Amino acid sequence: MESDVTWRGVGIDGWTALALLEWQGEMGVDEAILDAPIDRTDLPAPKPSAPPATVTAKAPPQAAKPASALDLRGEAVAAARSLAEAAQSLDDLAEAQQGFDGLDLKRGARNFVFSDGNPAARVMIIGEAPGEEEDARGKPFVGRAGQLLDQMLAAIGMGRDLPDATRAVYIGNVLKWRPPGNRKPTPDEIALSLPFLQRQVELADPEIIVLMGNTPCAAALNREGILRLRGNWTEAFGRPALPMTHPAYLLRNPIAKREAWADLLSLADRLKL
Ligand code: URA
Repeated sequence: MESDVTWRGVGIDGWTALALLEWQGEMGVDEAILDAPIDRTDLPAPKPSAPPATVTAKAPPQAAKPASALDLRGEAVAAARSLAEAAQSLDDLAEAQQGFDGLDLKRGARNFVFSDGNPAARVMIIGEAPGEEEDARGKPFVGRAGQLLDQMLAAIGMGRDLPDATRAVYIGNVLKWRPPGNRKPTPDEIALSLPFLQRQVELADPEIIVLMGNTPCAAALNREGILRLRGNWTEAFGRPALPMTHPAYLLRNPIAKREAWADLLSLADRLKL
């Protein structure tokens, strides 16, 4: 086939170009930085650089000791905590977190994804982070995993859109911005998001928390290993919590739905539904 496009000076056909573009999308690339692309294979040769200037020995300036990465992280977490603690309502909290600049994720995401469902619900479900669909729509759990979550909840008579707080759920994520390419959140991203999540739980004040997958368990329990943790009631943010396998895991491993069903029944039993 004749080549339609030139990529790095090599002619490639349209199908290859499309595959390359899709691959970049999967890696999290969602915008070009410049208005026009630069063909780096066609740039003028760089000018030879000037010989290095002679450096005369000088006493080194008494620079302030650079802050370590740990100090900087500690300061950013403290800033997150004071913003979160000052919030007196969920709306205030969402505004405060959206304005927080300590996380680079914010710059790559399309939308800030704070919550969905009924904030007065008895149950709060905590997931990991927005995916592509959630990032596009600004709501948690609205992609394929979210649809499965809705079906799971419906199976025990619960749902995010139910007006009755007894059967409604409130939904949030540990991270409120999508990690590029849906990669796993880093420990720093979790640490910087945790003060806001903790305040979100305090303000929503659910009776029971469901931790969907490893990331919420790492954030709330400081433990991972969801396949061992699932189904065992524990305590998170000072209230009863049930770790469960994430619906995205269930989509990849349908055989695990049997255990997820047992966990849902345990939740329904606890709520006396
Ligand atoms: N997975 C999550 O953990 N949260 C979402 O909002 C979507 C997918």
